[in-house]
Amino acid sequence: MAAQLDPSTRTNGGGPPLVELREIVKRFGSVIALSGVTMKVHAGEVMCLLGDNGAGKSTLIKTLSGVHQPTEGEILIDGAPVVMRSPRDALDRGIATVYQDLAMIPLMSITRNFFMGREPGRGKGPLGGFDVAKANQIARSEMGKIGIDVRDPSQAVGTLSGGERQCVAIARAVHFGARVLILDEPTSALGVKQASVVLRYIAQARARGLGVIFITHNVHHAYPVGDAFTILNRGRTYGTFQKSEVSREEVLNMMAGGKELDELSAELAEFSRSDTAAAGARERAMAEELHREAESLHGH
Ligand SMILES: Nc1ncnc2c1ncn2[C@@H]1O[C@H](COP(=O)(O)OP(=O)(O)OP(=O)(O)O)[C@@H](O)[C@H]1O
Ligand SMILES: [Mg+2]
Repeated sequence: MAAQLDPSTRTNGGGPPLVELREIVKRFGSVIALSGVTMKVHAGEVMCLLGDNGAGKSTLIKTLSGVHQPTEGEILIDGAPVVMRSPRDALDRGIATVYQDLAMIPLMSITRNFFMGREPGRGKGPLGGFDVAKANQIARSEMGKIGIDVRDPSQAVGTLSGGERQCVAIARAVHFGARVLILDEPTSALGVKQASVVLRYIAQARARGLGVIFITHNVHHAYPVGDAFTILNRGRTYGTFQKSEVSREEVLNMMAGGKELDELSAELAEFSRSDTAAAGARERAMAEELHREAESLHGH
């Protein structure tokens, strides 16, 4: 039975994971939203959190971002247990969350939205004033780093496309020192082209050494960019699967509710018995498939 598969024990060079959730239970009165979920995220890794509506994805990341306190279980950062009492607490520890309904003010400028209360001052003290030129320049260069050419950072954020707005929110988190970036369905309202902008940016954040938790319902978004997949089903996890362990079809099946889990379990057992040559061939085939997928994403 697949539910008995152990969560992955990969440790990325021996260091502790950036964050680890251990046996998290979350109850709201009599509702059990999470009943013992374990998940790890390493630096330079994109962890896709998948699952049907009501599976507990948002509850899990709200627990990790200080919005909810776990009823039971532990959160560890760099291997040390922590208690996070508020989103501010989580942010101070480098855990930044970008929600689908972005906390942005459409009529305010890109720069203002980028800084949002953390604007650079011109001088010391409360009368130092907001250094507009410097702020514009930082916002413009941070957006430029991710390939979005903002000609005029003083233009209203509402004039940007949905994908670009997501990128402003992510760029802001990265600029202010996020180590763990949590994205709750950042691509769900976007078309293919816009989604690919965000996916490319997720890959960049990984390249910069961040750990990314990416929530999505779309396997075509998850599979090309994900390194590992954690599947939630009614508050429980089926475990974490490295990309080398599962095909896109298998991830899709798990997202669809795990009907094929028994089959998958048997297949994984078979796979782990197969010799390394066969594993290498499979990885090459997967890399080719990914390449094609990335091309089709970028091409249309
Ligand atoms: N504040 C709350 N009080 C009571 N029950 C809640 C609360 N928040 C979530 N739940 C319940 O917990 C379960 C998990 O909800 P959650 O929002 O985490 O699911 P989800 O996986 O994010 O779903 P979706 O894909 O629809 O966003 C649901 O049954 C939901 O009704
Ligand atoms: Mg949700």
